[in-house]
Amino acid sequence: MIIETQQDVTEAVLGEMHRTPNPRTKELLSCLVKHLHAFVRETKLTEKEFQDAIGYVNAIGQQTTPSHNEAMLLSGALGVSNLVCLLNNGAKGTRPTQANNLGPFYRAGAPKCADGASLLRSATPGPKLFFKGFVKNEKDEPIAGATVDVWHSSTVGLYENQDRTQAEMNLRGCFTTLADGSFSFRSVKPAGYPVPTEGPTGALLRAQKRHNFRPAHLHFLIHKPGFKTIASQVYDPDDPHLETDSQFAVTKALIANYVKKGDGYSLEFAFTLEPGESWLPKAPITHKVHA
Ligand SMILES: [Fe+2]
Repeated sequence: MIIETQQDVTEAVLGEMHRTPNPRTKELLSCLVKHLHAFVRETKLTEKEFQDAIGYVNAIGQQTTPSHNEAMLLSGALGVSNLVCLLNNGAKGTRPTQANNLGPFYRAGAPKCADGASLLRSATPGPKLFFKGFVKNEKDEPIAGATVDVWHSSTVGLYENQDRTQAEMNLRGCFTTLADGSFSFRSVKPAGYPVPTEGPTGALLRAQKRHNFRPAHLHFLIHKPGFKTIASQVYDPDDPHLETDSQFAVTKALIANYVKKGDGYSLEFAFTLEPGESWLPKAPITHKVHA
């Protein structure tokens, strides 16, 4: 259609939606256009702000490499990652869930580990941790044979993919639950860490005067055919950044109970899987930063 006024633009764009054969794609695109146009109208976006926004979006891609996923980091910093997670888990957002953001640091292909194995593949400082997890169904029955990927940052505050001094796949491992639904590993107790601020996520945090820390946590990705795959994170109750997580991911259901034992800690945590589709998310990164 030929545009006469600013109102016509939205009508023209929505008018082309009927060509979209896939109904879900059509729904998503229509809603996106409505909200984007409404955003521009409500904020009375200036031409200068529009130019800045284009540069900002381009920078998200430019900052992304095989060892860093800026879009995933930014979605967390805007609370979108956890919103999507909570709407799609816990009986469609009606109950608490152990599901949590996958985060930007999951790598596929972590070494397969025997039960009780250590995640340390190079010297890593920090207090010892013994973790025992349980995977069960909604009737509280154990789920044996579930695959559990585990990963966490070092106490220096870096994942191995960010840190040339750590061995490939340090603090990452893949376990299989036993007949009683349990799995266990040894590692070091994770510390909180700062998320990278070189890109657009850093600019957002600085503009809002927010800190860039995440409270200490362990990551999990649990899947078995017949059950809905969940990513999860388990948080340290004593971390000073629990209330102000820069990724808005801490939920009550995921705050754990570390028990001091000798020169280290032990931690137990149970994950409940819902019936549903077992699928593996695309890993946000594929490589370690070049040595
Ligand atoms: Fe993390």
